[in-house]
Amino acid sequence: METKVNLIPIHVMGKQYMVPDTLTVMKAMEYAGYQLTRGCGCRGGICGACGIAFRLPDSYKIEVGLACQAMAQPGMYLAVLPFFPNKRGIHDLNKVKAAVDTFKALYPEVFKCVSCNTCTKSCPMSIEVMDYINAVIRGDIVQAAELSFDCVMCGLCTSRCPAEISHANVAILARRLYGSQITPRAEHLAKQVEQVKAGKFNEGLDQLKKADVNKLKELYKAREAEPDNTPDEWAPKSNDYL
Ligand code: FES
Repeated sequence: METKVNLIPIHVMGKQYMVPDTLTVMKAMEYAGYQLTRGCGCRGGICGACGIAFRLPDSYKIEVGLACQAMAQPGMYLAVLPFFPNKRGIHDLNKVKAAVDTFKALYPEVFKCVSCNTCTKSCPMSIEVMDYINAVIRGDIVQAAELSFDCVMCGLCTSRCPAEISHANVAILARRLYGSQITPRAEHLAKQVEQVKAGKFNEGLDQLKKADVNKLKELYKAREAEPDNTPDEWAPKSNDYL
C-alpha cells in the first residue's frame, strides 16, 4: 500500500523547505539537505547538543526545544543553538565548602534571580529549574542537586534568563558538592576497590580472558544476578540473544 507523505513548510535559518510532517526537526533538517556535524549528538534527548529556538505562525512566543525531540510544525521558523555560552565558576573541589557562600563567590548572579520562571518554561527536560536555583539561594544543596539531576546542559534556560544565570553550571556545582561532601561514603564500594587492588579477582579475570564464546555464554547464564522485576509483557520472548 502506498504511504502518502504530507509535506509542510518550515524555515531553517530563514530559508524555507518542504518536509514531511512526521519528522523531528533534526530529521527534517537532514531531509532538507543539512549535514549535522554540530548541534547533533545522541539523537535521543540526552546529550543536550541540539537546542533550537523557534516561532510558530500567529504566535508572539519564542519557543525552545531539542531538535531531536521537537516535531516539525507547519510554518515553524527556527534557528539552531548548538552551543550557548555559559559562565563557569572555576574552583578546586577540595577547597570549596558545601555551603551557600561557595555559590555567592562563584556564581553571585544567582542571587539576582527575579523568580520569573522563564528558565523552567524553557527547559526541554521539564526540570523545575527556578526551584533548584531558589534551593541554592536557600543553601539547600541537596534539593538543588536532586532537582537538577536530569539536566542535559543544552543552555536554553540561560538563553532566556533576565538575570543571566548559567543554570547548568550552577547545578553541576551543587551535584559535585553533594556527591563529594554530603552523600555518605559507600563503605561496601571502598571495600570492593581494596579487594580489586589487592588482586582478589585477577585469577577469575584471566580465566574470562582465555574463555571462548561458548564458555562465556555459559558463565553469563549461570551468573549471580539481581532478581528480574520486568513485567511479563515486556520480557524478551526468548534468550536467543545470548
Ligand atoms: S542530539 Fe542529543 S539531545 Fe538531541
